[in-house]
Amino acid sequence: MEMAEAFPNVMITGVDLCHPPIPNFPKNFHFEIHDVTKGQEYADEVFDVVHVRDIHAGMPDYLGMLVECVRVLRPGGYLLVKEIEWIPRLSDPEGNAEERFPAICAILRSFAEALNERNLDPWVGLNLESYVGNVPGLSEMAYSRHLVPMTPWSDDPILHYTGRMTQLAMAILGGTMRIMLMDHGESDPDGRYEAGIEELKDLTGEPVWFFGSVVARKAGELGDPEGWDSETTDAEQEQDADEDQ
Ligand SMILES: C[S@@+](CC[C@H](N)C(=O)[O-])C[C@H]1O[C@@H](n2cnc3c(N)ncnc32)[C@H](O)[C@@H]1O
Repeated sequence: MEMAEAFPNVMITGVDLCHPPIPNFPKNFHFEIHDVTKGQEYADEVFDVVHVRDIHAGMPDYLGMLVECVRVLRPGGYLLVKEIEWIPRLSDPEGNAEERFPAICAILRSFAEALNERNLDPWVGLNLESYVGNVPGLSEMAYSRHLVPMTPWSDDPILHYTGRMTQLAMAILGGTMRIMLMDHGESDPDGRYEAGIEELKDLTGEPVWFFGSVVARKAGELGDPEGWDSETTDAEQEQDADEDQ
């Protein structure tokens, strides 16, 4: 949605299992409900950019999902991927998050175990570089890792904002984990999760977690899309400019 607003001349297609809680989309945004574990419902080489963000907790075959993303990319197109590492840490690399925030660390460890039991890899974010590196047909790849505060402990405006947003997201995350945690053997997942949230209300200790990010390119040159006549369009643009003067 933010991208649709930031790039009004670009057509964006969003895909998820469920409809986002947004009544009106921008004109250049089209949304489709689709289970991407069944492959992408698109022809080969139709998108200039494919962006995958934080979906590994629902992907039994993450590599296969990425292969499908590359199939629908045009040659020279960009694959952008971001996934969370589920491990709480402290901003001080020497600090011990398990000691400082035992409840949130324990419940997230339990969640990672629950994912594992369902043959879902909880460590996609940690291993993102190798996941994307194993996708055939990519010619360039840049991996980076960035820190996100779990609470608004920082004076830096951007870190403060991301910490605030993460804290809000953490408040509802427990509900989405409940069934998996119960299947894993947690008798009181809500209570255990709430204990973790309580810990995070104390802003000292500076908890963070990391996200892995990859920007990769599909081999080949990004040509004009089919049916696109760049010469005509340039001429039309010049004519428009003349008429405007
Ligand atoms: C953490 S949310 C991230 C949402 C969005 N990608 C973002 O970054 O804001 C994970 C999303 O993955 C979606 N998801 C999980 N499994 C999926 C599947 N098999 N096909 C499509 N979407 C799926 C969920 O419905 C959920 O909205």
